[in-house]
Amino acid sequence: MVSRRLKDLEYAIRDIAVVANEVQKTGKKIYHLNIGDPVIFDFKTPQYISQALADATFAGQNFYVDSLGVPELRKEVCRYEKAKNSIEITPNDILITSGVTEGIFFLLAGLLEDNNEILVPGPTYPIYINYAKFFDGNPIEYELDEENEWEPDVDDLRSKITEKTTAILISSPNNPTGVLYDTKKIRQIIDLAGEYDLPIISDEIYDQIVFEKEYTCPATLSKDVPIIGLNGFSKAHLATGWRLGYMYFNDPTGKLKPLKEGIEKMARARLCANSIAQFAAIEALKNPGPHTDSMVEKLRERRDYSYKRLRQIEGLECKNADGTFYLFPKILLNEFPKWNTDKEFVIELLKGTGICTVYGSGFGSYGKNHFRLTFLPELEVLETVYNLLENFIQ
Ligand SMILES: Cc1ncc(COP(=O)(O)O)c(C=O)c1O
Repeated sequence: MVSRRLKDLEYAIRDIAVVANEVQKTGKKIYHLNIGDPVIFDFKTPQYISQALADATFAGQNFYVDSLGVPELRKEVCRYEKAKNSIEITPNDILITSGVTEGIFFLLAGLLEDNNEILVPGPTYPIYINYAKFFDGNPIEYELDEENEWEPDVDDLRSKITEKTTAILISSPNNPTGVLYDTKKIRQIIDLAGEYDLPIISDEIYDQIVFEKEYTCPATLSKDVPIIGLNGFSKAHLATGWRLGYMYFNDPTGKLKPLKEGIEKMARARLCANSIAQFAAIEALKNPGPHTDSMVEKLRERRDYSYKRLRQIEGLECKNADGTFYLFPKILLNEFPKWNTDKEFVIELLKGTGICTVYGSGFGSYGKNHFRLTFLPELEVLETVYNLLENFIQ
């Protein structure tokens, strides 16, 4: 027997990898453009951070640590967030998690039950939907408007607030669209949250991977609307496999005290996050190296190239990405009677060319008729990929 909770669980980003493995068995080369993991490409974890991890284990730091996180790391996160985003938080406002993923899991566990609702962007990062349903909640998508460069539609968001809404989730820079929410829109969303007495959850995992525009941290725009920020070491610090992140409560009036206390209980129940990774993370935050800047420079070139090539392919439409390492092209399915859905297109593309992307409908209802690809591979690989894609579509 298996619970409904697990039977219904889906995660398109990794589910497509199962199909890719089958295709690989036939001898086809697979181009992995499905998973947002820079470390499997030419973006390596900086040597000094890896060294700190090795030092921690040889120094015997292999024990369970504080459930809320190693105190020095919590202190360092405050200093880092203040330097980066000018937000004032104390170590008591921080919880160290096993990646942002665990932070989302904890938050949705604390907010949802009996079909109450959370507002998430649509297209959406699938975990928001999956975990919301896992906790018997109802994820409601507010529209990111493709016609308006994927900016959030604040009127749509307003129209979807009900007495069951528990929070509004912002994800900027956004996965899968790459949009960086306009500061004015973030302000409007915060005002709306204030009007309805709702907290904001802000997934900031890509805050350092931004190209031309400037990133605004939502917490800097809020006076008294509580904001829970989520960030971690996977992307900007190039340590995806270490599974380390943090959550901060920017809650000047203390409205979120019961939620925070509940989440702390849950943190204690799961013992702690990876100890040696926490000691290494202290080093990463104390001495930020040049790796983030050089990663952004390389990514900018790969994004520009990808955007140019995708725009040239007839039957696809694509908006540019302000940040992240994703593009989310639209497939004009009515021009291709061969494929009825984005999923069919993605699977046929994989079988025909070895290019592994993710079908847009895996990112919620607003993702339909799209597919997501990463522009993480090196330019020569991208060139091969777009040649194959172009031929396939033609
Ligand atoms: C928007 C978003 N949030 C969270 C995560 C997961 O982050 P972590 O590795 O810290 O669990 C990802 C991973 O791709 C993501 O795209």
